[in-house]
Amino acid sequence: MLAHLHGIRDRVLDGAEPLEGETLLGVGAGDGLIGLAALDRVGPEGTVVFADVSPALLDECRRAVAAKGADDRSRTRPPWTRSRANRSTWRRRARS
Ligand SMILES: C[S@@+](CC[C@H](N)C(=O)[O-])C[C@H]1O[C@@H](n2cnc3c(N)ncnc32)[C@H](O)[C@@H]1O
Repeated sequence: MLAHLHGIRDRVLDGAEPLEGETLLGVGAGDGLIGLAALDRVGPEGTVVFADVSPALLDECRRAVAAKGADDRSRTRPPWTRSRANRSTWRRRARS
């Protein structure tokens, strides 16, 4: 990670406070600059969801999250993921 981005990352997260116990969605999570720091701010009861179009970057996020020992507090998703319920709603609408 590029050290000069840390100040920007911290200002973004400062603007989102308070984050303790929240679920934070990082859209365009990249390699996790913001999301990984957010894991510290959401704390043990919070969750961070890393969403990105790049499967390779999501793999990097998963590796970094595992290195932090935070697998149980994080998810990775492609941005187009829909729940099962949403998928069937979309199909019904498409048929009508
Ligand atoms: C400048 S990087 C973001 C850096 C990131 N927020 C961080 O904390 O390091 C932009 C990211 O957005 C992703 N991206 C671009 N279009 C997207 C889309 N439509 N949905 C989700 N992610 C997208 C790119 O793959 C890239 O990783």
